[in-house]
Amino acid sequence: MSYTSLLPLLEKTGSILTPEKFQERINIVFHDFEANHYDAMHGDMWGSLQQQINLLIDDLLLYKNIDNNKLSLLDIGCGTGLSTQILLNSKLKKNIQQITLLDTSSNMLKQANEKAKAWNKEYKVVNSYLADLDEKFDIIIISSVLHHIPDLEPFLKQVDKSLKSDGILIHIQDPNGDYLNDKIYHERKNLYENILNAIPKKKKLINYFPKNFIKSIKRVLNRKDYIDLINDQLLAEKTIKRRMTADEIWTVTDIHVETKSDTINKGISLNYLKKQLENFKLIKMRSYGFYGFLKSDLMEDYKEKEEKLIQDNQLNGRNIACVWIKK
Ligand SMILES: C[S@@+](CC[C@H](N)C(=O)[O-])C[C@H]1O[C@@H](n2cnc3c(N)ncnc32)[C@H](O)[C@@H]1O
Repeated sequence: MSYTSLLPLLEKTGSILTPEKFQERINIVFHDFEANHYDAMHGDMWGSLQQQINLLIDDLLLYKNIDNNKLSLLDIGCGTGLSTQILLNSKLKKNIQQITLLDTSSNMLKQANEKAKAWNKEYKVVNSYLADLDEKFDIIIISSVLHHIPDLEPFLKQVDKSLKSDGILIHIQDPNGDYLNDKIYHERKNLYENILNAIPKKKKLINYFPKNFIKSIKRVLNRKDYIDLINDQLLAEKTIKRRMTADEIWTVTDIHVETKSDTINKGISLNYLKKQLENFKLIKMRSYGFYGFLKSDLMEDYKEKEEKLIQDNQLNGRNIACVWIKK
């Protein structure tokens, strides 16, 4: 169980909460503060995920005739609305009739609500957990969310309950659990990193000072970055008694993401999902991020190489995306 991995951090931060409550509060507070910067920080997702969604929709349409069906969509962990936006840019746009945007972060939902006004579709926003919804939907999209869910088993059971039979499940943008230690993936990733490292970097004046010095100057000037603000909030509400580093916060929120010290037990594994989603038929698994980055962030030559690997449907990229149908 992933919650037990949080015990050392609970002790370090002096938290008296249960690991479940500790994870819940940090996840919500982090995403509430991330909401204002999310779209600007995730240009790579805006630039690269449309292709992956388009490919998955083509895979789906080869298998299932949707024609004029009117579909209700649930976007779990909708964030600022990126995932629904790219679905609405795909061939499914004409079929999607009603949209439910679900997120545990109210600030993320504010951003999604602004985007939704331009969609010209019936929609609602829900600030809650999946288990609190009683409706069933025709499509569920889960984009960049599975790796945030500590206990995937009950979550996936709930996904099953929330989908109508013959409903469509799409998940995308999670670390590819079965391939994080793949030899060929690591060779590609290391090669690309070496190329990047060989490019001389222009050093800004600020880079000549130690990080802690910059931090204390910023504090004195009261120019807090959002990691400081997250800590202020967590301290004020007594989730923690001692401040957390950015990496510590990240290990709580991105609980299934690989770190330098743990690539073995991390990621979202297709083999695991197949066991959990026993009422589902896998239509297609796709992978991308073959050099460790999304395509839009790669140098031109490597964009072409990435494209070839995507078109060949190679499975050993950093990210996993799948489309399933509930039997
Ligand atoms: C990385 S963002 C992804 C947002 C969006 N789906 C996208 O692709 O850009 C993860 C989102 O999941 C939300 N989230 C995390 N855990 C959740 C949960 N258990 N239920 C619903 N939303 C959750 C977060 O608040 C955040 O908005």
